[in-house]
Amino acid sequence: MSNQAKYDNPFKATFNGILDLFKKQIPIGKLLDEERLDGKTCLVTGANSGLGYAVTVQFAQRGAHVIMACRSGIPSAGEQAKKESGSTKIEMMSVDLSDLVSIDQLVEQLRNRGISIDICVFNAAVVPSGSFITKSGFDQMFLVNYLATFKLANLLIDQSIIKKNAVSAPRIIFVSSESHRSQQNIDFEHLGIYEEYTMGKVIALYGYYKLLLTTFATELQRRVNQNGVNISVFTLCPGPVNSNIAKAAPKVFMPLLKIIFKLFFKDPKDAAEPVLYLACAKSLQNKASIYLHLMQEKKVDPKASDPDNGKKLWEASERLLL
Ligand SMILES: NC(=O)c1ccc[n+]([C@@H]2O[C@H](COP(=O)([O-])OP(=O)(O)OC[C@H]3O[C@@H](n4cnc5c(N)ncnc54)[C@H](OP(=O)(O)O)[C@@H]3O)[C@@H](O)[C@H]2O)c1
Repeated sequence: MSNQAKYDNPFKATFNGILDLFKKQIPIGKLLDEERLDGKTCLVTGANSGLGYAVTVQFAQRGAHVIMACRSGIPSAGEQAKKESGSTKIEMMSVDLSDLVSIDQLVEQLRNRGISIDICVFNAAVVPSGSFITKSGFDQMFLVNYLATFKLANLLIDQSIIKKNAVSAPRIIFVSSESHRSQQNIDFEHLGIYEEYTMGKVIALYGYYKLLLTTFATELQRRVNQNGVNISVFTLCPGPVNSNIAKAAPKVFMPLLKIIFKLFFKDPKDAAEPVLYLACAKSLQNKASIYLHLMQEKKVDPKASDPDNGKKLWEASERLLL
């Protein structure tokens, strides 16, 4: 089956995601207890739920100061994460990634407080029930799952909130998905143009926006690491996670989805393993880039690593944000 066909509807995407869990993996390695994050500041988007929440707790358990950048669950998710991790070095900051102004406000707050981020996990994403036009005129899923991350990552780098220290390169980690392999190519002509769609097209578009995210990640890596490794840019697919990602699915499917998620999808605590590895592994210190699917290193889709696509996407995204 072609990659496009593997991820073009919810049933096939779910089935193929589960199938991947049973395939033989050659893991990149295993994180040791002593590979810790003491003294590091980490920012995690979408940290109030699912994978982002599990990452927050485990970062805090490894000694990090964690900033949970969320649009909901403030302060309850932070309080819960403190309790679960036994750490008090967790705080929450508000950001709605479907609102470009809110992203500016988050960056301003970080800058005003003189915060320097060592590890940034771009994790937030949405799987809606259909198109939804935001204040800025972009579709919500396009904005949250791609353009907001393009904007936030660039602001954090341009304003030196993410910057290289004397010892090691900071790490940017993009939570993508194997479904980034799903689309034929990037449609630069229609990039960011709002079009209505219904549930039937959501999963194909979700994969397409993960292709944009992964293409951005490879282009970012090329741009920031022209003269040595200044920022490690890592990308991953966590595999199927038993999270709230399908909360907008039609109510009639919910009981069945809940059973499938519980039986076959990974607990967020376990699904966090590749994120933890990319954030903490000493062997990855000052490494320019890597893509993990579960714990196995892979090449991203050729469309995502194509420099021409990367350049065109970067320039088109900048134009959308003017
Ligand atoms: N679940 C899977 O099977 C799977 C598979 C492959 C990749 N992934 C990826 O893993 C990542 C984490 O997803 P998850 O499975 O943990 O799902 P989740 O539990 O739904 O978490 C998604 C997070 O994104 C946040 N978010 C959504 N819209 C936002 C907005 N406008 N502004 C700020 N935050 C927003 C959500 O906040 P709210 O709680 O406020 O909605 C939530 O915290 C995503 O990038 C997803 O694409 C998941």
